[in-house]
Amino acid sequence: MSGAPECLTRGPLSWRQALACAQEALERSLGGARRHEAIWLARASAERDSAAWWTGIDDVADPERLQKLASVLARRCSGEPLSYVLGRSSFCGLELKVGPGVLVPRPETEVVVEEVLAQLATLGRPAAPLLVADLGTGSGAMALAVAAAEVRAKVWAVERSEQARRWASRNIRAQDSLADRVTLLAGSWFGGLPEFLRGRLDLVMSNPPYVSAAEMECLGAEVADWEPHEALAGGVSGLEPLEAIVAECPSWLARPGVLVVEVADSRGRESQALAVEAGASEAHIACDLAGRQRVLVARWNP
Ligand SMILES: C[S@@+](CC[C@H](N)C(=O)[O-])C[C@H]1O[C@@H](n2cnc3c(N)ncnc32)[C@H](O)[C@@H]1O
Repeated sequence: MSGAPECLTRGPLSWRQALACAQEALERSLGGARRHEAIWLARASAERDSAAWWTGIDDVADPERLQKLASVLARRCSGEPLSYVLGRSSFCGLELKVGPGVLVPRPETEVVVEEVLAQLATLGRPAAPLLVADLGTGSGAMALAVAAAEVRAKVWAVERSEQARRWASRNIRAQDSLADRVTLLAGSWFGGLPEFLRGRLDLVMSNPPYVSAAEMECLGAEVADWEPHEALAGGVSGLEPLEAIVAECPSWLARPGVLVVEVADSRGRESQALAVEAGASEAHIACDLAGRQRVLVARWNP
């Protein structure tokens, strides 16, 4: 197999030896310390949970499993993101299926979910369902995380990319208990929503593409070569998707109603100004755990 290390083909190997071989191959191809990645790939190939894998680390590895390890290693050594190779990613405690055609959900987006949950709690509607839209749902990460954490939330998740919708659809179907509260829709931003939601949404959330044209030129290869450009590119300024969302948001929100959007850390002030221009009663930028400006929170009061 091209790209797979030769040491994996040398006679019977224990999982400990296979792990050392995988780590060395990853570090040679990608640089940096790669022990954790090697463990993820070896464990996934062995199809053992963490405890079984560690207790059996000196077992002789089955040749078919080693072949599987060679195959996933070759993919990872060619630069394919680890989450694509594993076929999954974890987000807010949920395990999501991901692969080519969909953005791998990022840890910083968990801060957006926390802000959404905090804002829903301020709406003062203890009994009523909370109507939420997720614009540009990708894998369905935010829609599912909010539905999982807030049982009153009904989420309409809009996505323009057909490939991404396929991943979202799989993820929604995999979450039995949430599937009846998360509806996946095709379309562009608010254009994907049913008309009856106009003026009735309690909260609109989005992690839209926000990389400017100049920044797109400087993205690392692992992102630029593998993840979908339509999930990243925010037009020349990087603000075009946000501008489109903010402009239409007032006519879709109930009063009070809240917009929560992930923004580029360098664009907090401009994002806040856009919401104020669109008539928001209050707008502020929340920070992530590293103190970077990350989330636009805008509220329209009655
Ligand atoms: C940055 S990704 C976020 C995906 C997901 N919400 C997450 O946080 O992992 C942006 C998503 O918006 C989608 N998108 C881009 N333009 C869109 C549009 N006009 N209407 C709907 N979705 C769009 C992309 O396909 C992509 O899935």
